[in-house]
Amino acid sequence: MTRTPVNVTVTGAAGQIGYALLFRIASGQLLGADVPVRLRLLEIPQGLKAAEGTAMELDDCAFPLLRGIDITDDPNIAFDGANVALLVGARPRTKGMERGDLLEANGGIFKPQGKAINDHAADDIKVLVVGNPANTNALIAQAAAPDVPAERFTAMTRLDHNRALSQLAAKTGVPVSEIKRLTIWGNHSATQYPDVFHAEIAGKNAAEVIDDQSWLADTFIPTVAKRGAAIIEARGASSAASAANAAIDHIHTWVNGTAEGDWTSMGIPSDGSYGVAEGLISSFPVTCKDGKYEIVQGLDINEFSRTRIDASVKELEEEREAVRGLGLI
Ligand code: NAD
Ligand code: LMR
Repeated sequence: MTRTPVNVTVTGAAGQIGYALLFRIASGQLLGADVPVRLRLLEIPQGLKAAEGTAMELDDCAFPLLRGIDITDDPNIAFDGANVALLVGARPRTKGMERGDLLEANGGIFKPQGKAINDHAADDIKVLVVGNPANTNALIAQAAAPDVPAERFTAMTRLDHNRALSQLAAKTGVPVSEIKRLTIWGNHSATQYPDVFHAEIAGKNAAEVIDDQSWLADTFIPTVAKRGAAIIEARGASSAASAANAAIDHIHTWVNGTAEGDWTSMGIPSDGSYGVAEGLISSFPVTCKDGKYEIVQGLDINEFSRTRIDASVKELEEEREAVRGLGLI
C-alpha cells in the first residue's frame, strides 16, 4: 500500500540547523523508514536562493522517501496542509539588543507563523519551536492559533536532555542507553534545571550513584545549562548538528512513543502540574504514546529541586509578562 506523504514544514531552512536537519528528515529519521515525506521550506526572501541550493542537494541524494520540496517566503503557503512544523528560523540577539527588543522581533516572526498554522495546517499538526527564545516563541505562536489545540505547540528542551544524559554517562562510565528518567524542567535558558533525583543509572537511583551534591550543584547543572554558550564560544556559532539531532529526537519520540519505563523532556503548555503556572510553555518529564504526550505525575520534588524549578518558571513568567505587554499574546 502506498502511504500518503507527511507534510513537514521547516522554517529557517537555509540556516545552519536547517542544513543539518533536512537531510535527516528526508532520509526517514524523523518519522520512520516507511513514512514518505514532502518538505515545505520557509525562508525570508534573502534566504530563498540558499534554500534552493539545499533543495538541489536533497534531490541529488535521491532519497526514496522524499516526495517533493516546496520553497517559499510565504507562511500561508509553507504551512498549507502541514502535519509537522519545525520552527527553526528566528531573530538572533545582536549587539546592543535588549531582551524586550529580542522578544518583539521574534513576535514579528512567530505571531504570523502561528496565524498561518491556525488557518492552513492539517488537523493533526504538531509544532516544535527551536528558534530562541524557544519557550516564549512557542507561546506567541500558540496564542495566535486559537483553533489549534494548545498542546500541539511545544518547545525544544531535548537538546538539554541529551546534554545532561551525556554528562552523566561521562561522570559514571555508564552508557547513555542505561540512563533513564532524567528531567529538564523550565526554560531553555541558563535557568533550566536538569533533575537527576528520579533518574536511574544502570537500574540504580542516579542521586545515590553519584552521591555528590556539590558536583550536581557546581558542575553538572551549570555545565548542562550553559552548554549552548560554551558551544558558541568554541565554534564561533551556535550548536547546529546537535540541535537538529534533538529536533529529530523530539518529534520522533512524540510520534512514535517513549520506551517502557523511561520518559523524556519537552517544553509543553503547563496544566498547572508541579506548581508551574498554567499556560506557560515549560519543560516537564513526559511520556509519549500514540502521538500524544502526558506529564509524568506524582514525583516528589525535594527542596533542592523546588528552588531551581521555581527560578526557571519565574523567568518564563517574566517573559510571558513582557510579550503580553508588547501585545504579542
Ligand atoms: P541561522 O542564523 O544559521 O539560521 C536561521 C535562518 O532562519 C536563516 O537562514 C534566516 O534567513 C531564517 N529566518 C529568519 N527569519 C525567518 C522567518 N521569519 N521565516 C523563515 N526563516 C527565517 O540560525 P541557526 O543556527 O539555524 O539557529 C536557528 C535558531 O535556533 C536560533 O534562534 C538559535 O538560537 C536556535 N537554537 C535553539 C536551540 C534549542 O535547543 N532550542 C539550540 C540551538 C539553536
Ligand atoms: C543552545 O542551547 O545550543 C542554543 O540555544 C544556544 C543559542 O543561544 O543559540
